[in-house]
Amino acid sequence: MVKIAPSILSADFAKLGDEVKKLHDGGADIIHIDVMDGHFVPNMSFGPMVVSAIRSFTDLPFDVHLMMDNPMDYIGAFVEAGADSITVHGEVLPHLHRAVNYIKGFGVKAAVALNPSTPLSILDYILGDIDMVLIMTVNPGFGGQKFIPVMMEKIRRLYDIKNKSGFDFSIEVDGGIGLNNINDVVKAGADIIVAGSAVFNSDDIGATIKALREEALK
Ligand code: DX5
Ligand code: ZN
Repeated sequence: MVKIAPSILSADFAKLGDEVKKLHDGGADIIHIDVMDGHFVPNMSFGPMVVSAIRSFTDLPFDVHLMMDNPMDYIGAFVEAGADSITVHGEVLPHLHRAVNYIKGFGVKAAVALNPSTPLSILDYILGDIDMVLIMTVNPGFGGQKFIPVMMEKIRRLYDIKNKSGFDFSIEVDGGIGLNNINDVVKAGADIIVAGSAVFNSDDIGATIKALREEALK
């Protein structure tokens, strides 16, 4: 079952609660929350206090994507704020196995994100421990960037590894996904689709989520 996870990075920050409610009413499956620290990525977004402030606007799962150099210091705070899954970047964590199990210790799902240039092989020995892999299909930091075409091959490879390993993790894709390519990423093996600008730059959020879902399942 493919899930649509709109990213609130492209929402109107002055009305974030209402924007989350629109996603809820519009049929989103998951709310994707992009946390940026201005170090790991060249942009800043929001922290646990903002996540906590929007928690009451929906009961949909909060998928918190930590684009940070020091995610370990903030995992507890994001769980406390209402995260249902925490995604950390493999590039910043030499003890990835420890990090994943630390996240799971809070009773939430644990995921690892990989930048476009990071090989899948860093996941070889933790695939059995993680709930989800996030394949970045743009270089993280900004919404509205172009999907990097060779990432299609990376998704396919991960899907193949998943099938051969027998481990049951989700494959999430994030960056530059819209009506034009959602079907291709799903066919390649993705089952959780993040979409920021495609959802928020449209006139009708609900109609766009519906169209994305229909296109994904074609
Ligand atoms: C990129 C973020 C993404 C981004 C997606 O740094 O992790 O979640 O907001 O936005 P679009 O769908 O506009 O590429
Ligand atoms: Zn993201």
